[in-house]
Amino acid sequence: MEIHRFEKRWFALSLLLIIGFIATIVYGAAGVGVSMIDDGGGQLDPSEVRNADGFSNPGVRQVGDDAYAVYVISYQFAFEPGSAEPIRVPADANVTFHVTSTDVVHGFAVVGTNLNTMVIPGQVAEFKTRFDEPGTYGIVCHEYCGAGHHTMAGTIEVVPADEYGTNSTEVEN
Ligand code: CUA
Repeated sequence: MEIHRFEKRWFALSLLLIIGFIATIVYGAAGVGVSMIDDGGGQLDPSEVRNADGFSNPGVRQVGDDAYAVYVISYQFAFEPGSAEPIRVPADANVTFHVTSTDVVHGFAVVGTNLNTMVIPGQVAEFKTRFDEPGTYGIVCHEYCGAGHHTMAGTIEVVPADEYGTNSTEVEN
């Protein structure tokens, strides 16, 4: 069978496009350090959150030279800490968030970053990040959680590493 050479070029071009599309998907999924939040954070009884390790004293604590852990409790309609007072962490440090809910499903998205998780009662969402630059980031609840959903928000303050720990709401461990 004779295939016209223009048709062959179109075949080649569409093949190239398909390879290109697959390449962008692979890059987006694996090449930019994006990872899914899984069940690795562990589970706990939603009614016992305030007695659980870390969550009995929610807040930021230093867990290593350059490592901080942040325990956040979500409930209708606030993040604790985050809403009433900002979550303060140093710039350029490894920060691991542990976020859980005591009532219904909430969301925890840090505006302007790719940090985004559902917060499911009974489950701890655990994710690591590093804020390169000092600044203020908003936190929003992005799962409809009741009449006050639209008011459920918070703040993360990323302060220069050398100013961290000077005036603070950090929890001593
Ligand atoms: Cu919490 Cu919407």
